[in-house]
Amino acid sequence: MKQFTTVAELQSALADARKEGKTIGLVPTMGALHEGHLSLIRRAAKENDIAVVSLFVNPIQFNNKEDLEKYPRTIEADMALISSQVQGEIYAFAPTVEEMYPEPVTTTYHFGQLEEVMEGPRRPGHFSGVAVVVRRLFDIVEPRKAYFGEKDYQQLAIIRNLIEQIKYPIEIVACPIVRADDGLALSSRNMRLSKAARAIAPTIHETLQQADEMAECEEVEEVKEWVLSTLASFHEVNPDLCPDGLRFEPEYFEVVDGVTLQPIEEWKEGAVGCIAVWLDGVRLIDIVKFGE
Ligand code: PAF
Repeated sequence: MKQFTTVAELQSALADARKEGKTIGLVPTMGALHEGHLSLIRRAAKENDIAVVSLFVNPIQFNNKEDLEKYPRTIEADMALISSQVQGEIYAFAPTVEEMYPEPVTTTYHFGQLEEVMEGPRRPGHFSGVAVVVRRLFDIVEPRKAYFGEKDYQQLAIIRNLIEQIKYPIEIVACPIVRADDGLALSSRNMRLSKAARAIAPTIHETLQQADEMAECEEVEEVKEWVLSTLASFHEVNPDLCPDGLRFEPEYFEVVDGVTLQPIEEWKEGAVGCIAVWLDGVRLIDIVKFGE
């Protein structure tokens, strides 16, 4: 693994690699790596001669200052994890904010209907901030493929749309969610959960799995209401598992068309359920692909 902190050094190394005919894949991350990220990096390293991994907590995609401050920063552990757990030629790129944004950012991106649902209205400016950093990384690295996790399902749709807008010849590779043995979707935010919260967090995935079964005989609206009420009442049904006021606070559960992300009222192929839930001051998201 080679480490880079400046754009110039990274681009010089990539230019040398290109002269040798090497192919380049990009895995954008905000660090605090876990097995989910490692699965993306392994895939990128397998499908390309060089996998560039960016580790950058992008301030302009946080609409909540506290969330930005609390976002885990574990750069040394991240580097150790990559070099011990991933085989292949890896270029790890961990720039400072000044290196990524030498000039104030004035560009904004719009994604129409794709950003009018779920995360969009709840995190104003978030997707534009994601698009700005992802485009900057595309411009720096010029990868032929870029890898994103399906847990951030709406982000994936936004990135695909970005590629259409900017017309870059980059293949976006969607990678499946990696889960802990108990089913909790891996996330850098999980490390902020207390022991009691971590113990009940898999309930989110369990509830979504049950929703998938219910979808065989219940209407969309009923399934949505059931998911929201099951999580919201969990602490009443299981008081012994919820000490000190611990409870799930669902922010939304939407059942949407998997491509357009528009909410659906009747079941159709490709329907996806997307959820955001607060637990112990941590915002967790997950998805279920109905009928898969
Ligand atoms: O998914 C993330 O971790 C971030 O949104 C991304 C794509 C690395 C951009 O900062």
